[in-house]
Amino acid sequence: MINVIGLGYIGLPTALMMATHGIEVVGTDYNEDLVTTLNEGCTTFKEDGLDELFQDALNSGIKFSTEYQRTDTYIISVPTPYDKFSKKIDPCYVISAVKSVLNVAPKGATIVIESTVSPGTMEKFVRPAIEETGLVIGKDVNLVHAPERIIPGNMVYELLHNNRTIGADSQEIGKKIKDLYSSFCQGKIIVTDIKTAEMTKVVENTFRAVNIAFANELAKICRHDNMDVYEIIKICNMHPRVNILQPGPGVGGHCISVDPWFLVGDYPSLTKVIKEAMMVNDSMPDFVLNRIYEVAKEKGIKIDRIGLYGITYKENVDDIRESPTLQMLESQRKHLAIELKTYDPFVNYSISENQFFDFESFLQEIDLIVIMVKHNHIKEKYKTIKNKIIVDCHNIFPDKDVYHI
Ligand SMILES: NC(=O)c1ccc[n+]([C@@H]2O[C@H](COP(=O)([O-])OP(=O)(O)OC[C@H]3O[C@@H](n4cnc5c(N)ncnc54)[C@H](O)[C@@H]3O)[C@@H](O)[C@H]2O)c1
Repeated sequence: MINVIGLGYIGLPTALMMATHGIEVVGTDYNEDLVTTLNEGCTTFKEDGLDELFQDALNSGIKFSTEYQRTDTYIISVPTPYDKFSKKIDPCYVISAVKSVLNVAPKGATIVIESTVSPGTMEKFVRPAIEETGLVIGKDVNLVHAPERIIPGNMVYELLHNNRTIGADSQEIGKKIKDLYSSFCQGKIIVTDIKTAEMTKVVENTFRAVNIAFANELAKICRHDNMDVYEIIKICNMHPRVNILQPGPGVGGHCISVDPWFLVGDYPSLTKVIKEAMMVNDSMPDFVLNRIYEVAKEKGIKIDRIGLYGITYKENVDDIRESPTLQMLESQRKHLAIELKTYDPFVNYSISENQFFDFESFLQEIDLIVIMVKHNHIKEKYKTIKNKIIVDCHNIFPDKDVYHI
């Protein structure tokens, strides 16, 4: 039996996937409400294919509990935030989950950490936390790091098809966990050591962050001199060895906007490019705010007639963590400004003062719409919003009348 600890965006689909592939699974989360919801037969977030997978897993006998189970394999998928000042990882959730597991784990159990951690976290924090209980790693308990790569919006497909990395202290334990993931994963599974596995995950997200920052910096340069960044990127990308990403209003979510900071925190004098890139990405919501101000001034539009479309951090998901829209509203609050109106078809609970839950009412109250998130919903509504001033942060409407970042 596998006990998956932490049933959020990563832990839940992982637990369901294993359960539907012949593995006995108990999912544990200390959030009682979340466990109750799951036990009532409902999923806790929206994701393509998740409800179907959930039903299949229920039929396959998956159980949900707030109790940690006594079993030989644990998968821990709890949050790994970073300290806003030092930029270092805050491993408190991982340590706490490991300690809870150790209270019930039998001798020889294997603990797999799926949470993203900075290189050296297992060495500096997790191993000492285990050793201080008197247990010997490799004998009484085994440690593995199996970072997750799936992207919200395509999680079910990617769980099945992505390649995976497994970091273990020995080939024997690595192979045991590889066999476990092979039950559902059709991608390649590489077994390596723990620190390499830690580093690869953070490096992958850092690569993405730096490349996004490059596109965002180009957008700023082009805005400064009134050049069309999209046209320039399109032409440059016709070069056989150039592949520039698209600029946007900022980076959110729990990975690309967080993980590169781990490297900056741990290697401050060696991460000049990464640090600058992160700062460029973090500056984008303010850059867009300034752009909105310019357009509103040019068009004579009052602040209370401006609306932000999209609150989530990416399209077609309901995850709002660290989203550019939230960063923008936060920036407004710091300046004691009136919050801009907001609407998101995926967010049906209140997160800001001037939020709308009905698209038509939102449109009635605004003259300028800022497209912060390229949900499919808005792509289909161009005709409905054509009479508004549009600031399109994703170039989904490349018309001459539409303003871009
Ligand atoms: N969300 C993503 O897209 C994504 C992608 C790849 C990797 N990751 C990484 O996966 C990890 C988990 O992220 P997430 O998005 O699933 O987080 P999440 O916040 O959605 O879920 C974490 C869950 O863990 C539970 N939890 C925390 N501590 C616990 C404990 N001690 N015992 C039991 N339950 C506990 C929380 O109640 C919560 O339900 C993070 O390290 C993240 O960086 C996330």
